[in-house]
Amino acid sequence: MSSHHLAAAFDGYGASAVPQLRRLALPAPQRGEIVVRVQAAAVNPIDVRRRGGYGRKLFGLLGAARLPLVLGNDYAGMVTAVGAGVPGLRVGDAVFGAKPPSSAGTHAQYVVVRAEHAVLRPRGVPAPLLAALPYNYLTVRRALADAGIERASAHGRAVLVHGAGGGLGLLALQILNAWGAHVTATCGAAAIDSCRRAGALHALDYRRLPLAGLPRRFAATLNFADWEDEAALLALLAPGALGHATTVHPMLGNVDRLGLLRGALATLRQRRQWRARVPAGARYAWTVFRPDHAALAQLADEAVSYAALASITPYDLSDAAQAFQHVEQRRPGRAVLLPPA
Ligand SMILES: NC(=O)c1ccc[n+]([C@@H]2O[C@H](COP(=O)([O-])OP(=O)(O)OC[C@H]3O[C@@H](n4cnc5c(N)ncnc54)[C@H](OP(=O)(O)O)[C@@H]3O)[C@@H](O)[C@H]2O)c1
Repeated sequence: MSSHHLAAAFDGYGASAVPQLRRLALPAPQRGEIVVRVQAAAVNPIDVRRRGGYGRKLFGLLGAARLPLVLGNDYAGMVTAVGAGVPGLRVGDAVFGAKPPSSAGTHAQYVVVRAEHAVLRPRGVPAPLLAALPYNYLTVRRALADAGIERASAHGRAVLVHGAGGGLGLLALQILNAWGAHVTATCGAAAIDSCRRAGALHALDYRRLPLAGLPRRFAATLNFADWEDEAALLALLAPGALGHATTVHPMLGNVDRLGLLRGALATLRQRRQWRARVPAGARYAWTVFRPDHAALAQLADEAVSYAALASITPYDLSDAAQAFQHVEQRRPGRAVLLPPA
């Protein structure tokens, strides 16, 4: 294996910054790490926002904002090297997974990941479809738990998924449907059919039917769409509701704007104010993606069914700029990068 590899890298931050194909050094795996030859890696909305500097202050403290910046959390590929202290994986294993935010992400020929951020790939799911699942799935599982929704508590309960036509939403619909929840989806007109296929009982075009027109009868609400809609969603929770979780909260923006300490304090204060609006006993959460080995293993078991409904658009790694444009313009289907072998 070469000590250098090709990566789609940003040399600076900016809303219109373009990733360049760069030859970068590839570090050897440390204890507990593996090296994966990336066969496919998704471009998620967070990548597009991070290139513009979103989250830079907090990610900087975590060492994840260095230039050249290689973005990308999730991947499917083959293990090419194994560090010490990795019992379960060997060179040649086909794996997939998601790593935490870093500046040495998965939009590259090779990526170094901690072994617990990888699991063996299920048979029968092509790498490009598999690579588009982990980041979204792990976030959705966390959002469901944050909102107090579990397999046991979901059965027969009315749940509203706002922004259901995207990567997070379509997975949430499938999980909730499998758990027996009665799901209402709000989405753009083009996604109505996909939401129904993913298990929504009702799929509503958010541009035609405002949230305020819905009855206040939901046991849980999930906001994957727009922070501006937070108040309207909380107003739809019924007495005795389980809770609400949002992935579109202002936490990273607060830190970018105010710095770590004042940003963290503003976040705590804001969250407390919003929590006061949910019915007594209900949870209120700002969900943050975090790798989770147990949930990843669960995804490996369930991936075949999610892949059947997934829609992706593949791009060569050298066309990463177009893939970023695809996500930025919110074109249908997740953009997935395919690095050269
Ligand atoms: N906090 C975290 O750790 C975390 C993790 C993952 C994702 N996220 C964020 O969560 C959001 C969803 O992620 P995603 O991957 O699902 O994004 P996505 O694939 O772009 O999907 C977002 C969906 O929301 C829809 N939408 C936009 N505004 C809406 C509105 N007012 N009402 C109803 N639907 C609306 C869009 O439909 P149209 O295109 O038709 O408008 C789109 O289908 C993104 O903002 C992402 O950055 C946060």
